[in-house]
Amino acid sequence: MLTLKMTKTKLVSFTGIVVILVIVGVTIGLAAPATSSARRLTDRGPDDCTPVIIAHRGASGYVPEHTLGAYALAILMGADYVEPDLVITKDGHLIARHDNSLGLTTDVASHPEFAHRHRSQAIDGIELSGWFTEDFTLDEIKTLRTVERIPDIRPGNARLDGSFQIPTFQEIIDLVKSMQISQRRTIGIYPEIKHSSHFKNIGLPMEELVVNTFHSNGYLDSSSPVYIQSFEVNNLKELKKLTNLRLLQLYESDKSTQPADQILLNTGLTYYNMSTPEGLAEVAKYAAAVGPDKGYIIPRNDDNTLGDPTTFIQDAHAVNLKVHPYTFRAENSFLPEEYKSDNPSESASGNLKGELQKFIDAGIDGIFVDHPDIALRLRGPCL
Ligand SMILES: *[C@@H]1O[C@H](CO)[C@@H](O)[C@H](O)[C@H]1NC(C)=O
Repeated sequence: MLTLKMTKTKLVSFTGIVVILVIVGVTIGLAAPATSSARRLTDRGPDDCTPVIIAHRGASGYVPEHTLGAYALAILMGADYVEPDLVITKDGHLIARHDNSLGLTTDVASHPEFAHRHRSQAIDGIELSGWFTEDFTLDEIKTLRTVERIPDIRPGNARLDGSFQIPTFQEIIDLVKSMQISQRRTIGIYPEIKHSSHFKNIGLPMEELVVNTFHSNGYLDSSSPVYIQSFEVNNLKELKKLTNLRLLQLYESDKSTQPADQILLNTGLTYYNMSTPEGLAEVAKYAAAVGPDKGYIIPRNDDNTLGDPTTFIQDAHAVNLKVHPYTFRAENSFLPEEYKSDNPSESASGNLKGELQKFIDAGIDGIFVDHPDIALRLRGPCL
């Protein structure tokens, strides 16, 4: 309940601030050119401040990930972008889940009518048992309810188990568009296409569908508040031909691994290869930005403290790539040793601001964060 109460309080105070800004904006707007900073405050776009704050799976530190509740809370907190991961249903609808395996974040296991759908298959080379989105129609998906992925670390979120449905991509766009009006600012959408090769190989390719959905909703070119991300390579190159929307190349934390499509193509290309100055120059031919695991920027020492920054940011900036590392999270479980709190619990909140400041000092352009409110407080007013 704390989460819901906080949402309401933030809504009220944020609305109050916005009302004041609108009055100030209108008043100054009468006497000053349209470029005055007060006027711009009411028009804040998702790329106007640095670092760009991308609400990872919504405000997933507070509400079960990839739900309209998690996205809405992120927007109320002031996040620049909401980040849905996209998978696809049997009947070709894009829905938001981190995995096509439904058991991790839904109550599918307690639906006896779906027991017979349980099966095993290899996805991107990993053998998985469970229930898969590609075996369910959207109508069936809508009978499920979401649950918290990591209830041990986020017990507060688990209290909201059963509260939300799985949203479609279109429902997320509709939420963003309606909240842009109430929040009086442009809110960005930052989807990741999950398991691209897997879905292509079973006759459910996602790339054109994602692009067509954006285009038909008026998101048309590189000035639109959109990035499309993928851990694979060739689907991004394919997207480059289909759209002028901005693309982001993701990098797995283990540099020796290969993008799933590159394994299938037997190219030998690893994320390490893509992280060198030459590799980044290749990526810059199709992408506007790179999303590395944060270890590419500041690796950890053996004792799990932060080490020294690498040249990754400079190398990326040299070829005009923005750098948006993932994932920043407030709980001890995820923090470098020196930023953990005295409370030894893995679920206790440590000093995320301290960790973030190190990355801001290193020159990042944006962050994927589960607790966007903390990042926003650190960033402060920026216009
Ligand atoms: C990737 O990097 C390794 C190590 O430097 C190198 O041996 C290999 O040829 C590179 N592969 C590609 C496809 O660039």
